[in-house]
Amino acid sequence: MNVLLLGSGGREHALAWKLAQSPRLTTLFAAPGNPGIADHARIVTVDPCDPAAVVAFARDNAVGLVVVGPEQPLVAGVADALAAAGVPVFGPTAAAARLEGSKAFTKDLCAREKIPTAPYGHFDSEADARAVLDGFGLPVVIKADGLAAGKGVVIATTREEAEAALADMFGGGFGGAGAEVVIERFLEGEEVSFFAITDGAAVLPLGSAQDHKRVGDGDLGPNTGGMGAYSPASVFTPELEARVMAEIVEPTVRAMAGAGTPYAGVLYAGLMLTADGPQLIEYNARFGDPEAQVLMLRLEEDLLDLLLAAATQRLAGRDRPRLAAAHALTVVLAAAGYPGTPQAGGAIRRIDAAEATGAKVFHAGTRTVDGALVAAGGRVLNVTATGASVADAQAAAYRAVDAIDFAAGFCRRDIGWREIAREKAR
Ligand code: AMP
Ligand code: GLY
Repeated sequence: MNVLLLGSGGREHALAWKLAQSPRLTTLFAAPGNPGIADHARIVTVDPCDPAAVVAFARDNAVGLVVVGPEQPLVAGVADALAAAGVPVFGPTAAAARLEGSKAFTKDLCAREKIPTAPYGHFDSEADARAVLDGFGLPVVIKADGLAAGKGVVIATTREEAEAALADMFGGGFGGAGAEVVIERFLEGEEVSFFAITDGAAVLPLGSAQDHKRVGDGDLGPNTGGMGAYSPASVFTPELEARVMAEIVEPTVRAMAGAGTPYAGVLYAGLMLTADGPQLIEYNARFGDPEAQVLMLRLEEDLLDLLLAAATQRLAGRDRPRLAAAHALTVVLAAAGYPGTPQAGGAIRRIDAAEATGAKVFHAGTRTVDGALVAAGGRVLNVTATGASVADAQAAAYRAVDAIDFAAGFCRRDIGWREIAREKAR
């Protein structure tokens, strides 16, 4: 079968690497892809956010499955157009992707279905929002409703900060994403990412991961897209998983189907494990990046077969995807300056030496210039390894990191620290 993969980051490289292992694969196409993805796929020039162009390419090249990596093509209606054209697609329709695209939509769904989440309100006027602020206590969480590239959330510790965030969002600081604002109560606990695969009706749990959002060691400094991740998250026990499936994920999938907008694809639940049980912070309509990198390293299953089953309503009765018991850990090598303005063009060498240690290096933001690999983005490489313990996986990942020559890059040196401390305490 021919498969078209949309996207160009480390998540998509991990998906391409795993798809390429499928005995069912004939040709993997990728748009726009990257030099790492090019090891497994034929790179093609199709705008991933242009539904008509994606459909035309799929038809002309007998594509039997389109896999959508990032959220933008979903919000642009690429899955809708493919479905209308009869091309199986892994990724939700635009209406279903509102679970990621509109925080107010998701909070309202949670309220209707009694899904545990922080108490909230949503507002389209600054005056109305200010009027309720005191009822939420401090800190208070203020979110732009729409997609804001992960930057639309402010945790305000004072009333002044909260008012400033409201003024910024309603003042257009986040463009259209801030026309509607959600205010919610601050939840205390540990955050976990949980991934489930659904075909719109049946849902299978995939697995858990935790990422490190801050740029600096000790989880300090500005927020990023994620500087590293590991899977599984030991705090997310099988009991918690069963609870999250029953109380959060399954009711969501049922409600979406009941509303006539079934959600098919991967449902990424950002959860807070609070003293009152797991609560939903947010949904994403895609795999996490870099969480996908660690999940793909553990997946002991034909990814093409799994994604195709989800895309063609054939998940019912299937066993949950098998994940290796091993721990996987990924370290992000970022370009100097990230998450501000990353330095472009830094030379990257010796990825082969890193992989000779047994690690897998996924390309997140690279390109080739005159045959040489250089940085082209904030997050540049995802150095990913497995081990019998988190400490082993971490040691293996950093051994590979140290083999790479990327003078204009940096990474955190403590990815997995919390999990390793827990491991030592056991
Ligand atoms: P979101 O984009 O909704 O995932 O929010 C970004 C980050 O803000 C989350 O990963 C959490 O760390 C934090 N956050 C969001 N909502 C809450 C909440 N209600 N309580 C505590 N932290 C939150
Ligand atoms: N690593 C967080 C995300 O993909 O949203």
